[in-house]
Amino acid sequence: MRQISTLYGEVVVLDAYKLQSLIFPPDVIFDIGANIGVFTHYAHEMFPDAPIVAVEPHPPNFAVLEEFAPLGTVLFNRAIGCGQMLHYPDPEGGVGGGETYISNGDGYEVPDVAGHRIEEVDVQSLLLDALHKKYVRPGDRLAIKIDCEGAENILFAHPPSVEVLQKADFVTMELHPYWMDGESRDDPEALASRVHKILGETHRCDSEIPMFYAWRKPDGEPIAGRGEFGGLLAERGLLGNAAEIGVCSGTYSRDILDWGVRHLLLVDPWRELSDAPCGISDEQHEAYYQECLTNIQGYEDRTTILRMTSVEAAKQTPDESLDFCSIDANHRFEGISVDLPTWWRKLRSGVGAILAGHDYLSPDYGVNRAVTEFAAERGLHVHLVIEHQRDASFWMEKP
Ligand SMILES: C[S@@+](CC[C@H](N)C(=O)[O-])C[C@H]1O[C@@H](n2cnc3c(N)ncnc32)[C@H](O)[C@@H]1O
Repeated sequence: MRQISTLYGEVVVLDAYKLQSLIFPPDVIFDIGANIGVFTHYAHEMFPDAPIVAVEPHPPNFAVLEEFAPLGTVLFNRAIGCGQMLHYPDPEGGVGGGETYISNGDGYEVPDVAGHRIEEVDVQSLLLDALHKKYVRPGDRLAIKIDCEGAENILFAHPPSVEVLQKADFVTMELHPYWMDGESRDDPEALASRVHKILGETHRCDSEIPMFYAWRKPDGEPIAGRGEFGGLLAERGLLGNAAEIGVCSGTYSRDILDWGVRHLLLVDPWRELSDAPCGISDEQHEAYYQECLTNIQGYEDRTTILRMTSVEAAKQTPDESLDFCSIDANHRFEGISVDLPTWWRKLRSGVGAILAGHDYLSPDYGVNRAVTEFAAERGLHVHLVIEHQRDASFWMEKP
C-alpha cells in the first residue's frame, strides 16, 4: 500500500491542493480521483458544512474510501470518462496507488502509449456536467479537486465539462501530460498552458507543475490581482504621483514603477517600532532596505524614499496630490485605522484616485475591520482583489 503518511504529507501538511488559499467556504466540493479519501477528509475538516462528492474508479481504493468517508459524502465508484473504460495498472500497484482509468469518446482519443499494459474494465464512467447538474444549485460556490492520473484530459476536450470548470469558484488539480493527445504529450508546460487557455478568462490561474490552480475572478471586478492596478490607472489617466506605505524589500515598488507612474513615494521606517513591532530585527530591516535600493535602481529620478513612519511621512506630503496609494504597513487595527484617513486626504478628489491595501482578509490582522468601518462611514464601495493566497487586497475610489 502506498504510504498513507505520504498522501497525508502531500495533501494535508503541504496543502498541495491549496485549500488553505480559499477565502470563502465552498458550498459543494467535488473530489475527482478520491483515492482512499485523504483529500475528502481534509476538505471535510476544513469545510464541515460543504457536502463532498467523491469519485474513485479503482475498486480497492474505493473500498477504503467507502469504509472511512465522512458521513454524508456522496460516493461514486466510477471513472472520469465516456463509455468503455480502459485500465492501465500502476506498476507499483496496491491500495492508495495511482491507477489510470481512461477512455475514448466525446472528442478525446486515448493516445497509444507504448509499453503500457491495457485492459478493458467494467467500470462505469461519468463526466463533470452530470455531477454539476445533480449536486450544484444556482448560487452555490463550487470547489473542484481533480487528480485522476490523466483522465482529466478528456474533461478539457468535453465542452459541458469545460463549462463546469469555468463556472467553478476554485479548481485545483494535478496534471498528467502523459495522457494528452497530440504532439506535446511529454510537455507538462504545454498542458498547463492549454488549461490556462481554458480557464484564464474566468479565473486567476497559477501552476506549480504538475499542480494547476484556478481561482474564479470575482464577478464584475475590473482587476483580478494587485499587479493589475497599472492597467486600471493607465485607462483612467492616473499615472501621476503614487505612494507605497510599507515597502519592505521593494518588490511591489518596482512593479508600481514599471506601470509607468510619474513619481513614487516609498515610505517605511525600516526599523522595529516600539508601539507596533513586526518581529523583524533591525539588521533584517536594514537588509530589506538595501534590497529595496537595488530593486528601484535606475528609477532614482522618479522615486523619493521617506525612511520614517507613515504618520511622519504624511506630514511632508501635500493633500490632494496622489493618484494612487497602496497601504501595507502597520496591519493592526489601531495602525491601519490611522493610515486610512491620513492617506485618503492625500488622494486627488474627483478623478477616481485609488486607495488600495494588502492583507484585507487575513484573520490575523485588523485590516478588514478598519477598512469596513472606514468605507461604511463614507458610503464607499470596497473592491476585492483575490491574490493567490489568503492575502487578498482591497481598493476604494475617492469620489
Ligand atoms: C508587509 S511589509 C510591506 C511589503 C510590501 N508592500 C510588498 O508588497 O512587497 C510591511 C512593511 O511595513 C513597514 N511598516 C510597519 N509599520 C509602519 C509604519 N507605521 N509606517 C510605515 N511603514 C511601516 C515595515 O517596516 C515593513 O517593511
